[in-house]
Parts: sequence; C-alpha cells; structure tokens
Amino acid sequence: MTHIVIISGSNRSEAQSHRVGEIYAAMLKEQGASVDHISMRDVELPLWDEGKWSGAEPWPSVWAPVSERLKKADGFVVITPEWHGMASPQTKNFLTLCDGGELAFKPAHLVSVSSGTGGAYPIAELRMSGTKNNYLHWLPDHVIIRKVVDFEPGSNNEASPDWLVARITHGIKVLMAYAEAVKPIRENVVDLSVIKTGM
Ligand SMILES: Cc1cc2nc3c(=O)[nH]c(=O)nc-3n(C[C@H](O)[C@H](O)[C@H](O)COP(=O)(O)O)c2cc1C
Repeated sequence: MTHIVIISGSNRSEAQSHRVGEIYAAMLKEQGASVDHISMRDVELPLWDEGKWSGAEPWPSVWAPVSERLKKADGFVVITPEWHGMASPQTKNFLTLCDGGELAFKPAHLVSVSSGTGGAYPIAELRMSGTKNNYLHWLPDHVIIRKVVDFEPGSNNEASPDWLVARITHGIKVLMAYAEAVKPIRENVVDLSVIKTGM
C-alpha cells in the first residue's frame, strides 16, 4: 500500500493548514493510500540549533520519532500557509531539520493556503529553495487554496469549485503513481553517500 505523509506547516490552534491536511487525508484514503499527518499544530519542533547535529537533547527525543514517521513515507503532501507573503517559518524549519534522507528522492505534492487571495509566493519560495540538501522532489503541479476558511469540497462554492476538487484528486493520483514509480530508483540507484549535500 502506498504510504503518504502529510506535513502541515501552521502552529496556530485554529490552523486551516491542518484542516486542509485532514481533508487531503480523507481523499488519499479514498484512493487507497495509507496516511500519516504530521501537523505543526500538534507537533512542536524547536528551531534548528547545533544540537541537531551534535545529538544533544532535546533533539534525539524530539526528532527521532518524527524522522521515523517520515522514513516510512513513499511520498508527501506539504501544506504551507502564506504568512506575510512567505512560507511559514515552521515549514522552512521542518525542511531544514530533514537532513537524514527522510525526504530524499520522494515525490511531494505542494499546497499553499490563504485566507485571502494570496498563496502564490510560498509556492514560488518553496520551489526555488528548501530542497537542495534534503532532495525532496516537488511534483510539477501544485495547488493553491484561496479563501480557505470557506473551502469545503463537495459544496461547489466559490472557495471550492468542483474543478479545484477535481484538480486535487488528480494531484493525489499523480502523487501516488509517482510514489510507486520512483521506489526502484531510490532502492537501486540513489546513493546519498555520493551526494551528501546538493550543489
Ligand atoms: C502572521 C500571519 C501572516 C499572514 N500573512 C498573509 C499573507 O501575507 N497573505 C495571505 O494570503 N494570508 C496571510 N495570512 C492569513 C493566512 O493565509 C490564514 O491564516 C490562513 O488560514 C492560512 O494559515 P493557517 O494555516 O495558519 O490558518 C497570514 C496569517 C498570519 C497568522
């Protein structure tokens, strides 16, 4: 079974990113995936510091369980809110912490959410940076959910027209197909000891 891990990058208690993550989880399960959701609403990850590399506490106890969950993934859905025209600090910190091959050469469907009509900047930001050393593989088609508070698949309202929901379903199907297709590349070809960090 294809295993997809959803990362949602907002620590707000009322995070729409988390809510969208749960909607994606249900849609992924409908397509036959097994799903885990790592939500920054619920998982508090400290900002990177030297202890991450030297192995000082709290890193082993904080990061090891998250790292194990990520290593099980065949692919990812990464959801970032747009905050001040940027991807959230939690999303960037998360990408910084993934230096153990957890994401390497695995496909990811990128989603941004905005309560207004934004959402494009974090997509541009994350496509331009954030994957050099963790080797995450963004898929070509991303999704922007605007007026996210009203996003309710099936309602065909302004925030969730049927074409957008169809696009998300398509994105999920492509993600799952990629996740299976690239497994042999990771297992038989990729050697991270040769390319420890990206150029
Ligand atoms: C600090 C902060 C800055 C924000 N800046 C923007 C912004 O620049 N553009 C935008 O479209 N929405 C912005 N928003 C609104 C978010 O899009 C909104 O909170 C949305 O629900 C996604 O974030 P959430 O997952 O934290 O709920 C901002 C929200 C916060 C908390």
